[in-house]
Amino acid sequence: MCGIIGIVGKEAVSDRLVDGLKRMEYRGYDSAGVCTVHGGQLVRRRAEGKLANLVQVLKSDDAPGNIGIAHTRWATHGAPTTSNAHPHATQEVALVHNGIIENFKQLRDELTARGRTFESETDTEVVAHLVSEQVEAGLAPADAVKAVLPRLRGAFALAIAFRQFPDFLIGARLGSPLVVGYGDGETYLGSDALALAPLTQKIAYLDEGDWVIVTREGAQIYDKDNNPVTREITTSGVSAAAIEKGNYRHYMQKEIFEQPTVVAQTLSSYIRPLEQTVALPQMDFDLAGVKRITIVACGTSYYAGMVAKYWFETFARVPVDIDVASEFRYRDPVLEEGGLALFISQSGETADTLAALRHCKEQGQTIAVVVNVPTSSMAREADLLLPTHAGPEIGVASTKAFTCQLAVLAALAAHLALVKGKLSAEQEREIVRHLIEAPAALNAALAHDEDIAAMAHLIAPARDVLYLGRGPDYPLAMEGALKLKEISYIHAEGYASGEMKHGPIALIDEAVPVIVLAPSGPLFEKTVSNMQEVRARGGKVVLISDAEGIEEAGEGCLATIEMPSVHPLIAPLVYAVPVQLLAYHVACAKGTDVDQPRNLAKSVTVE
Ligand code: AGP
Repeated sequence: MCGIIGIVGKEAVSDRLVDGLKRMEYRGYDSAGVCTVHGGQLVRRRAEGKLANLVQVLKSDDAPGNIGIAHTRWATHGAPTTSNAHPHATQEVALVHNGIIENFKQLRDELTARGRTFESETDTEVVAHLVSEQVEAGLAPADAVKAVLPRLRGAFALAIAFRQFPDFLIGARLGSPLVVGYGDGETYLGSDALALAPLTQKIAYLDEGDWVIVTREGAQIYDKDNNPVTREITTSGVSAAAIEKGNYRHYMQKEIFEQPTVVAQTLSSYIRPLEQTVALPQMDFDLAGVKRITIVACGTSYYAGMVAKYWFETFARVPVDIDVASEFRYRDPVLEEGGLALFISQSGETADTLAALRHCKEQGQTIAVVVNVPTSSMAREADLLLPTHAGPEIGVASTKAFTCQLAVLAALAAHLALVKGKLSAEQEREIVRHLIEAPAALNAALAHDEDIAAMAHLIAPARDVLYLGRGPDYPLAMEGALKLKEISYIHAEGYASGEMKHGPIALIDEAVPVIVLAPSGPLFEKTVSNMQEVRARGGKVVLISDAEGIEEAGEGCLATIEMPSVHPLIAPLVYAVPVQLLAYHVACAKGTDVDQPRNLAKSVTVE
């Protein structure tokens, strides 16, 4: 989704606005723009496509001024063109927006009937005209904004500049995240703390319905009922350096190779290695009393949830319902009195998941959140916060957040089994021993990077690719397919390998590579039989297994990827590496934009 930033500065702002957009480009890269207030004018510069195009425009025609707003776009309404690029403006007002104004059509018709003309197809331009109408009618900007906000339905984070008022900006949020940054004689607005990292670490997170007037002296925040309020100023601790690529070619590659370290980092918050016990944060609810768990998430986080379902049901014998967030609340789910609802998210801002969380809260569920951004909306609305410590994840295709989510979920499953009396102290020690082995096993898996790079050309020409797995490796097969789809644009599907013969096997022919995830263990034989069924139809199999498995079933495969021998519990963590690397190297072989794949964005803040 989009990234927005605003600066009320002491000196020229256009460079720093663009810098802020650079740190938010993972949010959307369809177009970008800035608008400053200078000499009683709104000075707007926009360009379609990557941020680099806007930088070119500003090189030849800068936007002077000490106050301004900027935007990087993920298109929802209207194609990625310059006329649809933000900021949207009238004679008096310019604004940037992250979110969707769901009732924009009705508002647009009203405005058109009142003689307003539109230059874009966007929902956002409607807000610019509504605010401008009020200002043109003589209202003070704050009153104009106050009059317009209640008319907007949907999700928005807004930053608004006024031609005649070069000393303040107004921001507002409902649904989409917005923060205020406090500088030295300057004040900022941003979609997240990362955007403002080089400008300030002093960040206040706006709550739902808040709006704010930011000046050089500070910020006056109002709540949804227009009462003046204060929001806690925290130190974000996000350093600009944290998002450097280092010697890596892509952020995704860097983040894949960070996994041993960040999984160890994450585990160190959830296990006591010496005592070999799990250690979860204090809970002010009775976990042992939980009769059913509802897991809700999207994309890669959803697949982590599917793996956790196996663990919660196997170790703790607690039934689990799992659903994709975009479907969850619209099916009006039956939620058990006092049930636990578990939300998994890298960004903590995914609109579908956030809406499902609020639905469960209204339904009296206890809310647990596994999240990588501890200051995100989901984190702040959780009853139990279980942070992953993967560090900022910039590559749009999630990798290290996924393995860190699995590490947290494995510890949670063990803890739940313990408090349910389903796990002995010895079994707890055994699980902790396996988790402690995970970082080294991830390292061993990464050692196959060159082998996997060498085989990418076998997959790159394919039009369709299938991934197969059983048990906890079934969701991993779907995650592998998602990674390949996201960054190489090859159509790929993950299947429970036993399901193939019920239809999908019809897709098999010489041209369809089939990636089989088969770690040694209780399901190995079954998975290999399904693999043989595929090979009997001429399917080209890439077998991912350990030495023993490859010894047993590797002969005649198109290729094999040998993994370290690991306990089935941590296999989904470790086998994530080869499917990530395979997708990465196939995408590199195809020359696609690995970190910013087409049509995607890192944090999906609209429904
Ligand atoms: C995964 O690579 C994708 N970026 C996407 O599917 C992502 O997992 C999904 O949008 C959920 O995001 P979240 O974890 O930030 O909620």
